[in-house]
Amino acid sequence: HVDEGTRVFDLTMQQGETDLGRPEPTPTWGVNGSYLGPTLRAERGEQVLVNVHNDLGEESTLHWHGMHLPAAMDGGPHQMVGDGDTVSPTWQVDQPAATLWYHPHPHGETAEHVYRGVAGMFILDDPQEAELPLPRTYGVDDVPVIVQDKKFEGSELDDSDGMFRNNGILGDQVLVNGTPGPYLDVTTELVRLRLLNASNARVYNFHFDDHRRYQLIATDGGLLPRPVELTHLELSPGERAEVVVAVEPGETTVLRSAPSELSGNRFAGADDRLDVLQLRAADHLSPSPPLPDRIADAPTLDPDDVVRTREFRLSGTTINGQDMAMDRTDATVEVDTTERWVVRNADGDPHNFHIHDVQFVVESVDGREPPPELAGWKDTVFMPEGREVELLVRFSDYTDPETPYMFHCHVLRHEDRGMMGQFVVV
Ligand code: C2O
Ligand code: CU
Ligand code: CU
Repeated sequence: HVDEGTRVFDLTMQQGETDLGRPEPTPTWGVNGSYLGPTLRAERGEQVLVNVHNDLGEESTLHWHGMHLPAAMDGGPHQMVGDGDTVSPTWQVDQPAATLWYHPHPHGETAEHVYRGVAGMFILDDPQEAELPLPRTYGVDDVPVIVQDKKFEGSELDDSDGMFRNNGILGDQVLVNGTPGPYLDVTTELVRLRLLNASNARVYNFHFDDHRRYQLIATDGGLLPRPVELTHLELSPGERAEVVVAVEPGETTVLRSAPSELSGNRFAGADDRLDVLQLRAADHLSPSPPLPDRIADAPTLDPDDVVRTREFRLSGTTINGQDMAMDRTDATVEVDTTERWVVRNADGDPHNFHIHDVQFVVESVDGREPPPELAGWKDTVFMPEGREVELLVRFSDYTDPETPYMFHCHVLRHEDRGMMGQFVVV
């Protein structure tokens, strides 16, 4: 029985074959199709229910990355969906408009399941965002850009272990929304790109071929207080950014990835240059209203409210020297209290840090005030070599002493190898 007014989604994880520009169709996995899955969309305040059916031939899960929801609905490694089974997580959306995503989370297998193609976007709307003069016609001037790099062996996806591939797969072929060699026909003066780094390991340093400026309007958890003008933006796996870029009639410009300025590790792909997406502007562009100066309230978490500080040291594929254990709770957090989580990369490899259920505030980066692109709500933060960040986190609404949420590095091979821990909210 489903209440009227509940927004219901039916998702089936399945195997298939996809034309990825290789000589033969590539065996892939997807959701309601052969590669990736539909964009889900819901409004703040809505009850959603997702029927997740698994036809993959092995057990998996779907996790709602960035979503504030009860631990039992989270789709983490404790909510496995057996082959042929269906689960139906349900929760009420209660967070600002944002670009979230979903992907599998079976412990030890996440990298492979995501790499084969199981992932999709989950866009949240709210009335505040809807009132702003932002580009928001889906597929026209508001476009999902799911960026993944792939390595092929003939027509098959190559997910084999490489000798220097501590960090997992780095591909030389970029797919956007599952399309090789992608381009976008732009028909408006401004276009909003919802960038999602859905790659296993690669950090992208997004810029345009002519180094034009663009406006960053939102990060993981929603709109920034004000647009931030940038030429380059680095996104590590799992992170999202909404950017608005202006085009001229008739021009072609290319969104590219430059070598990372934050991480020097070439075994992690820090040297690579890649074309991501070509924008082809029409000869006549529909006018777009200018972006407003203020777009959202600044995140509010008061450092004076901090009741507890925890430290997380990233090294190798461990956190605080420990591998993930499904039956160990690493932290017990009291609901509706504010904590400071100090995360340090003590390692020669780049990592990042993701926390389930919550959007956090980056309080400091290497002891300094964070840059403006980290001024909004985040759920995943890039941790280049040597970096230390202080995060303000507050878990609210849901308690469950039995069911943990996860925190982990979102370099998926690291996560699978144990760079993950568990916390309960009580
Ligand atoms: Cu994107 Cu633990 O997840
Ligand atoms: Cu997550
Ligand atoms: Cu890592």
